[in-house]
Amino acid sequence: MSEQSPNDQFLAVERTIGEIQHADGARLAELRVDLLGRKAGRLTQILRSLSSLPSEERRVVGLRANDLKREIESALASRESEVASRKASKQVADLTMPGRSAWRGAIHPVTAVVDEICEIFRDLGFTRVSGPEAETQEYNFTKLNISLDHPAADMQDTMFLSPGIVMRTHTSPVQARTMEQYEPPIRIVVPGLVYRRDAFDASHAPVFEQIEGLVVDEGVSFVDFKAAIDFFVKRFFSKTTAVRFRPSFFPFTEPSAEVDVKWGDGWLEIMGAGMVHPAVLENCGIDSERYTGYAFGMGPHRITMLRHGIPDIRLLFQNDMRFLGQFVE
Ligand code: DAH
Repeated sequence: MSEQSPNDQFLAVERTIGEIQHADGARLAELRVDLLGRKAGRLTQILRSLSSLPSEERRVVGLRANDLKREIESALASRESEVASRKASKQVADLTMPGRSAWRGAIHPVTAVVDEICEIFRDLGFTRVSGPEAETQEYNFTKLNISLDHPAADMQDTMFLSPGIVMRTHTSPVQARTMEQYEPPIRIVVPGLVYRRDAFDASHAPVFEQIEGLVVDEGVSFVDFKAAIDFFVKRFFSKTTAVRFRPSFFPFTEPSAEVDVKWGDGWLEIMGAGMVHPAVLENCGIDSERYTGYAFGMGPHRITMLRHGIPDIRLLFQNDMRFLGQFVE
């Protein structure tokens, strides 16, 4: 090496500098030692040989060697930091991994059923409204002709927030709130959550969705009710789904009915309903001599389970993506 002239040594070093910006890992470390190593680094050797040069040459070579040293140091430093940051980002994004398809959100199956039901009733002129989930006993029970000693009003079934205030056990109180606030004609659907002190098992949940329906006008009859429900069932299930109206009892309707749809070999209940009890109309300031109405209540969780053959209501609350992913369209 020392047999080479300083100029040849410089040229060789300069060629090596070009390599720095492409080197990485082990090669980059090698280049650092090769050029700047304290014992045998090529630039170190040039600097060390200065003392043996004639003084004029020593100055020129010394200046050039120092410039070159700075250049090498900065080239090494910038390449080293580039390599380090590339390595760091590789740990987050490994470009050799197979691609993953983009995430797609979707509407929860129960929400989709609620929206679909409300849209069908919208086509029949119903307005979608809502009401409070924390409700007074008065609206949840009394105004609906449910006396407070009725089993439905019992502490055992109802979540109390404070004396006289409950978590609504059904969406029916919104009937009363609407009748008090608006003059007939009234046509509403009321989706919302309701609360019951119940076990959380395959077929019960302590909170679940209901949709209340209410129509109040002059001359509304049970026939209007049957026609509306038949229209709804044919739109929601299928054009050939049969509907059955079965006598029942609710304090807030007279007569009362339960509505079943034909399902396989049997019938499945989808809602409770009836003609609004005159006492309820009067409790809410509506003249029961002039107006009549019908009301119904159904459970979207149950209907969602029916529609998709879901065996356990808890699946609709757990938000397990393996389950919900099946409803992404
Ligand atoms: N509120 C009843 C329940 O929670 C459901 C219901 C039945 C609502 C008959 C109605 C109705 O409007 O007419 O079980």
